[in-house]
Order: sequence, then structure tokens, then C-alpha cells
Amino acid sequence: MELWHIRGGRRLSGSCRVQGSKNATLPILAASLALPRRSELEGVPGLRDVDAALEILRLLGCRICREGDSVQIDSGGLSGREVPRELMLKMRSSVIFMGALLARCGEARLSLPGGCRLGKRPIDLHLMALRALGAEIREEGDRIECRSRGLRGAQIRFPFPSVGATENAMLAACGAQGETRIFGAAREPEIVALQDYLCALGAEVSGAGTDCITVGAVRKTASAPFRIPSDRIAAATLACAVGSAGGSAELKNVDPAHFSTVLHFLNQAGCDIITKQRAVTVCAPGRLRAVGPVVTAPYPGFPTDAQPVLMAALLRAEGDSTITETIFENRYRQVEELRRLGAQIELQGRRALIHGVERLHAGRLRATDLRGGASMVVAALSADGETVVADEGHITRGYENLDGALARLGAEIRVENDG
Ligand code: UD1
Repeated sequence: MELWHIRGGRRLSGSCRVQGSKNATLPILAASLALPRRSELEGVPGLRDVDAALEILRLLGCRICREGDSVQIDSGGLSGREVPRELMLKMRSSVIFMGALLARCGEARLSLPGGCRLGKRPIDLHLMALRALGAEIREEGDRIECRSRGLRGAQIRFPFPSVGATENAMLAACGAQGETRIFGAAREPEIVALQDYLCALGAEVSGAGTDCITVGAVRKTASAPFRIPSDRIAAATLACAVGSAGGSAELKNVDPAHFSTVLHFLNQAGCDIITKQRAVTVCAPGRLRAVGPVVTAPYPGFPTDAQPVLMAALLRAEGDSTITETIFENRYRQVEELRRLGAQIELQGRRALIHGVERLHAGRLRATDLRGGASMVVAALSADGETVVADEGHITRGYENLDGALARLGAEIRVENDG
């Protein structure tokens, strides 16, 4: 258990570097075994989810060498076909190993994935895509067995642009004979990163960033180093932290276009936003103004992952803000905890109405999930007194040294390991 001690009321200032993207790294690690290659990744964040993905690769027979933020992977000696249940349960992204294993060996045995509990998170679209490519899939309880006697290129049409299902389809298609076209694909920057990585491994993939992706032939290539892009949700979290605490901070190693919807609402709330090519400066007044309506949507809409941290920044805003969550059915688990700080939030189904209060007070909170935990830290920065957030490791699944980054910006924060 980690105990995050945060004394609110310190304005933030200075600059910090944003970590590499968790949601880009995880499918890229799975992709590293789809083709028998050596690859060298730079900028890999030090996260519990990344540790779990590397453990899966090792277990399946890949050779891994990790030094600081660089990871070398040699998947030439891949021998396993099965991902054990305890590793599947560590994160949602473990499900992407299904497409990668199918592409490489025509066989995959795994179980339903874990990850944050944000409501029902079915994998029907993943299975539909793999079946369209010719996989036979048997589900028994939580076990899934996939086999194919040669995947064939196909046309896949997603009724909803699921990020994970698009990634699984792209990976499996790399092992198929003939061309695959994915319609209704997710357009997130992480999909573009996956395409860039697959191309670096010699696959012919195009269209990522639009709703139609084409996967063609695979050539043999020499390995080239690949840099993981920066984490737009970690950047959004730090930007919201500045909004919550007040002050002015520069975030480096970011692509401002990738979280422009979050910056838009911070600007509407009264923050000055200065963007450069690879950096953003957020200058926040002492108290924000209410904004809205904020509606989460697939990219390029407002990211559901940034919803809890923006909510936290708006708790003390002047006026009423509204947020509507359209992606996950249960993504307000942070609300009950934030109320312990004196926040006034009304939930009406998928809509949250935030009545801004003048002051928040300290409290003892429990992190409910990854982004929910981060939202509690962001809220505590503007609460009077010392707040303690107890966390069973949710935050470190996705944030590399969030406390260090905030402390660097002048926050009074320390994390204690409590057994
Ligand atoms: C990814 C991100 C996660 C982010 C989410 C939405 C990673 C590791 N995780 O998750 O941080 O919150 O995108 O931006 O990249 N759905 C189905 N059937 C399916 C698949 C999804 O109904 O087969 C539904 C889900 O229940 C959910 C919605 O589609 O309601 C979005 O899910 P999806 O885009 O697949 O998110 P993930 O890939 O799980």
C-alpha cells in the first residue's frame, strides 16, 4: 500500500518533462513478438503495467534487456503460446497479446484481461475482428483459445472505434496473407504510434489516424531504434494539477495537439496556455471558472482518461461545470472520494454536475483506479491541510514518478510505502 501525503495550497512553478506514453508502449510491446525481429525502444516509461508486459514477453521466450528507459527485445526465440491468468489479470492491455500471438504462431491461449474496473469491458469487437481474419476462437469460462490454419486478409468493420480492438486487428493482420482493411478504426495517437512501429518492423501499414487502416505485406528489415511518444494523459494530468493548484509551469516533451481538448477547457476556465512545438506552459489563476459542457468521446474528442483529472481541477471553480462520460459506464468512482474533501458533485446517470466550492479541506481518501487515483492527488493540491490518498498501486500502474514531477514543480508531496 502506498500512502500519498499531499499538503495543499502551494502554487506550482518551474518545468518538468512528461513521461513516455503508457498506452502506446503496451501494444508496441505486444507487437514486438508479432514478427520475429530485434527491436530497440527508447523512452519506455517505468510503470507497473510495462513490467507486466515485459514479464509476458520473457515468459513467451523473448530476450529482453532493459536499461533505464531503453528496452531491447529479441523475439526470434519465441516459444510460448499461452499467457498465464495472473499476468492477464494485471492489466487490460494483456488482451493485445492475442492478436500478436495469432499473427506469429497461429495460436494463442489466454484468459479475460484485468485492468481498471470502469464498468463492463467486453472484448466482443476484438474477437469479431480476429474471427474475420480466419481465427477459430473458443471461450470457456474466462479462458480463450484461438487457432488458425493461416489467417487471411479481410475487411473488418467496427461499429465503435475501440482502441484495443483496432490494435488487435492491426497485429493479427500482420500475420495474414493478403490485404486487410479496417473500417471504423480508432484514431488515437497511440494507433499512429503502433502503425509507425509496425512499419519500422517491416510491415506495410497505412491510414492510422483516420478511420480506415490498411495492413499489407510484411518485408524483412533491419531493426531500427524506435522512440515511444510522450504520454498525453500524463501531460493532461500535470496541466490539470497546475489548474488546480494555481501557478505557472512548463511541460516539456509533449505534443500539444494530442491533448488540445484538455488545454481548451483549461483555457476556458481562465488559464493562459502557451504552446510550442514540443512544450506547453500552463498559467493558472488562483481560482478557475466553471466550464462545460465537457463530453468524453473517442479521439479527437475529449479523452475519457482525462475526465477524472479535469473534474478534480474544477472542484473549486466559480460556478457549475458539467461533464458527460460517454465511453465507460462506471467512470465516476472517484466522485465519492472527492466528496470527502468537501467537493459538491451531483451524479445524474452519465452526467456529473460540479458545483464549485470556495475551499476544499483535507481528508483521507482511497484510490479507486488509475486515473481516479490521479484525480485525488490533483484535488488535494488545492485543499487546505494534509490529504492522504491510500493506493494499492493503481497510480504507479500508469504514472512514472508523478510525485517527483509534482514535487519538482513545488508541490508538498511525499509517498510512503506502508507494507
Ligand atoms: C483504451 C485505453 C484506455 C482508454 C480507452 C478509451 C489502453 C491500454 N487503454 O482502452 O486508457 O480509457 O482506450 O480511450 O490503451 N468495447 C466493447 N467491446 C469491445 C471493446 C470495447 O463494447 O470489444 C467498449 C468498452 O466497453 C468501452 C468502449 O468500447 O465502453 C471503449 O473501449 P476501448 O476503446 O476498447 O478501450 P480500451 O482499448 O479498453
